[in-house]
Amino acid sequence: MTGKQDADGYSNLDSKERLQRISRSNRLFAQWLENNPESTFQDYYGYMLEQHLDQGHTHPTLGCNLIDGRVYGKSGKGMLKRLISLGLKQNHICVDYGCGSLRIGCHFIRHLDSGCYWGLDVNQRFLSDGKDLIGQDLRLRKSPNLHLISDETMAQARTARPNFIFSKSVLLHVHPNELATYFDRITSLMAKHTKLVIDATISGQTVQIEPLSWAYSKAMLEDMIARFGCCVRTLEEKTVRLEAAERDGGILTMLIWRNGETP
Ligand SMILES: C[S@@+](CC[C@H](N)C(=O)[O-])C[C@H]1O[C@@H](n2cnc3c(N)ncnc32)[C@H](O)[C@@H]1O
Repeated sequence: MTGKQDADGYSNLDSKERLQRISRSNRLFAQWLENNPESTFQDYYGYMLEQHLDQGHTHPTLGCNLIDGRVYGKSGKGMLKRLISLGLKQNHICVDYGCGSLRIGCHFIRHLDSGCYWGLDVNQRFLSDGKDLIGQDLRLRKSPNLHLISDETMAQARTARPNFIFSKSVLLHVHPNELATYFDRITSLMAKHTKLVIDATISGQTVQIEPLSWAYSKAMLEDMIARFGCCVRTLEEKTVRLEAAERDGGILTMLIWRNGETP
């Protein structure tokens, strides 16, 4: 990744430059797919971010070199506070879907009883970084379940009957063509009693807001969630400016539960 990178990525670009970056990136993705015909956008995301981290750049959520002076192991506690307010207990089973390098997961691992935390991701490098970052002592004391997403590891997580699942800063990086697979997989982990918390960047309609990020319409997300047999309630909605799309959008946090159950 080249360009005028600053603390939050490329916020000092004007909207024309942002749109050009998006077009260029989409062309690169199309070329990459020709060379990797079995792969998907989620693999491309990992490929791009691995290079970004290898070049020593900062990132809002991945690796140890976080933006804006955020300190790994200190920042990222908001989700734990939110789930505690929704009833999370120390002996509950909790799945962090798209856990990356455990920026948020490290707080859950410390808080929960041994073996209760499950961190699942599509990228082995981010998981390995996370294992190194939390250190051997915490791994030995708390035995977190850290797995690459596969049919087998999904079945294992499902069998654990999670009380809570959360997926933070993941949905915005899911390509529109892979959105149904994302919801299919994540809702398949839910037992009757599971509470699922997902955040999304929203806009009036689906729009690509960065080379690797999308905003989705709230109504479309709610329809998709209903298609997978679930109900949804808004926990929080904050207005944000989506610069590349030159429009206002929002950051939405949703609570999702199975139809017929109580949230
Ligand atoms: C921006 S990082 C967020 C990591 C972590 N949730 C956090 O907030 O620190 C996005 C993560 O989602 C993962 N990811 C991307 N697409 C995914 C998908 N379709 N299913 C599950 N994980 C995905 C990436 O590999 C990456 O680890």
